[in-house]
Amino acid sequence: MIDLGCGPGLFLRDLARRDPSMSLYGYDVTPAMIVYAQGLTWPGVTPTLVVHDVTAAPLPHAAGAVDLVSMTSVLHVLDEPLPVLAEIRRVLSPRGLFLLHDWIRQPFQSYLAWRRDGLGETGPEHLGRAFRLFPVHNKYTSEDWQWLLAEAGFAIRHEAALRQSHRMFVATTAAAAG
Ligand SMILES: C[S@@+](CC[C@H](N)C(=O)[O-])C[C@H]1O[C@@H](n2cnc3c(N)ncnc32)[C@H](O)[C@@H]1O
Repeated sequence: MIDLGCGPGLFLRDLARRDPSMSLYGYDVTPAMIVYAQGLTWPGVTPTLVVHDVTAAPLPHAAGAVDLVSMTSVLHVLDEPLPVLAEIRRVLSPRGLFLLHDWIRQPFQSYLAWRRDGLGETGPEHLGRAFRLFPVHNKYTSEDWQWLLAEAGFAIRHEAALRQSHRMFVATTAAAAG
């Protein structure tokens, strides 16, 4: 299982706690994230945690070798998501799953309220940050994500909102769905 853009490795750590027998891989472009993840206490074998820019190089996995790829709050950052989605599709096994969890667009007023209530950002100094991040976090609608996944050859099997700001899509390769 791969967590792409794994950040500090907390999702992988939680997965390892549920099933220490899984083969886990975490990739992130930011070295400090990988160092942090490597320093966590792992219940089983420490996952393979490697600095990797997913826009610059293929994943170091054979075609069809991976059962689950997850990506949380990463794809919206990338200038060109389609080549990365194609690479995810390449490594997934025929019955493999892609778990995409990412920001969805919301009106500025509710984004601001979310930052205030969810993050405790209240002072005027936070307003500049909210204006700066608004176009980053509010880039894609749910329909845009659905279109991108279909365009990349994925079929959505399930979707859900675990929080107001994000949407989760569970997808298989379109061939597997058919
Ligand atoms: C908002 S964080 C999310 C981290 C983690 N997935 C989580 O949910 O806690 C986005 C992460 O994507 C990573 N990232 C951004 N561009 C990347 C790229 N081209 N290749 C790999 N990782 C990337 C960043 O370094 C950062 O750790």
